[in-house]
Amino acid sequence: MKENKLADHLMNHFKLGKESLHGPGHWEKVLQNGIEISEMNPNIDADVVRLFSIIHDSKRENESIDVEHGLRAAESISQLEKLGLLTITSEQKGKLYYACQHHTNGKTSSNLTIGACWDADRLELYRVGIIPNALFFSTEEGKKILANRYN
Ligand SMILES: [Fe+2]
Ligand SMILES: [Fe+2]
Repeated sequence: MKENKLADHLMNHFKLGKESLHGPGHWEKVLQNGIEISEMNPNIDADVVRLFSIIHDSKRENESIDVEHGLRAAESISQLEKLGLLTITSEQKGKLYYACQHHTNGKTSSNLTIGACWDADRLELYRVGIIPNALFFSTEEGKKILANRYN
């Protein structure tokens, strides 16, 4: 699978190391959440959600406040394309870019695919001591998983 190559590349260039709270272990959990959400609704672009899971935190440079890491991740997409590590349409790229750039802002999205990306990430807030709140979830699918998992 092409995404393994992508994940390997991102891990090799990740500044915080394998054990980071925002590192590969987290990416894998967001990926599993993203797959679960995408399977619940065929209108969600699962390719974008999978790519988001691996890319969104890959440019973090510290474990606390790094407000620009989403933008850096978004900006890295073109480079990853050039390296042949991902192939997406321009529509998918637009969604992936936006989802990465704004994933840190606590917003919700009315776009199903972008919302699915953010919900997949927020389901993992427990790891940093935050109880995920349904008010900050975008999709019904994400809210359903949240309710099943934490209630
Ligand atoms: Fe992040
Ligand atoms: Fe994350």
